[in-house]
Amino acid sequence: MPFPNQDYSKRDYLLPAGCKTETDELFIDCKCPHCGFLASFPEGRIGTLQECPRCFDVLVVPSQGTDVGAKLPIPVKTSRLLLRRLVRSDSSDLLELMADEESFRYIAWTPLEEGEVEDWIEKDKAVRLTQNRASLCFGIELVEYSKLIGFLSLNYFDEERQDMAFMTMINANYRRQGFGSEAVRGALHFAFTGVHIHRVIASCDSRNIAGCRMLEKAGMRREGECVKDLFQKGEWMNTVWYAILEEEYEQPPIKY
Ligand SMILES: CC(C)(COP(=O)(O)OP(=O)(O)OC[C@H]1O[C@@H](n2cnc3c(N)ncnc32)[C@H](O)[C@@H]1OP(=O)(O)O)[C@@H](O)C(=O)NCCC(=O)NCCS
Repeated sequence: MPFPNQDYSKRDYLLPAGCKTETDELFIDCKCPHCGFLASFPEGRIGTLQECPRCFDVLVVPSQGTDVGAKLPIPVKTSRLLLRRLVRSDSSDLLELMADEESFRYIAWTPLEEGEVEDWIEKDKAVRLTQNRASLCFGIELVEYSKLIGFLSLNYFDEERQDMAFMTMINANYRRQGFGSEAVRGALHFAFTGVHIHRVIASCDSRNIAGCRMLEKAGMRREGECVKDLFQKGEWMNTVWYAILEEEYEQPPIKY
């Protein structure tokens, strides 16, 4: 979509209304990797995910001296898994996940029917991670068998795009082999190394031992437990909150 006014001052456009235009802050000029538009971002946004003002696709703001912004660093590779965007042919593997009602016991989601899974994949294709609170879904592919064994949905939940939250599920036939924690480590790698997030959080029903263990094993810190704070699936539940800060994140021992 063309920008409505090609004569605009791009810096004025990016500053909030009423803000002085003669600013001491340095700006980074870079081309959008999708449409080639020359955009300008405050220096403080280097390494973060931003929207191109013309095509609205997402780009990672490069450091000074690089001409073109980077595309979203997807797929994410871990030693056994590939975290990638969903494709239409994933529907049968996703339906296999949906068949196990027990998997949904401690989470707000309910199993989806075949048509709903197809709608989900179709809608997910259009999701831009920069849309506030929009969840982008990574399919979790087991590389050895080219099989989708789970998914991980990820979203920003603040307007400054400093904080992210996620939720994940692994096919019941592939559990307790470290795939859940490996996928979470991959998502943390994406968040901290790929798009320079300040803090990542996840919540878990306190009765969900597997979920809590997985988050701890992936290196997340238990921040606290809210007692009977959520009425879900006919009962009050306790929410355990987990978080990890950029400075707490350690490079995982597995090679990316
Ligand atoms: C939570 C979930 C993703 C974990 O997947 P997974 O592939 O089994 O996770 P991992 O193999 O990495 O296991 C992580 C830890 O949890 C432990 N664990 C897994 N399932 C367990 C269970 N049923 N009971 C006790 N511990 C369990 C593992 O033993 C491992 O700890 P360890 O290495 O110290 O032994 C999976 O159980 C699931 O999809 N559950 C349904 C959806 C859900 O609840 N999502 C979590 C929302 S936060």
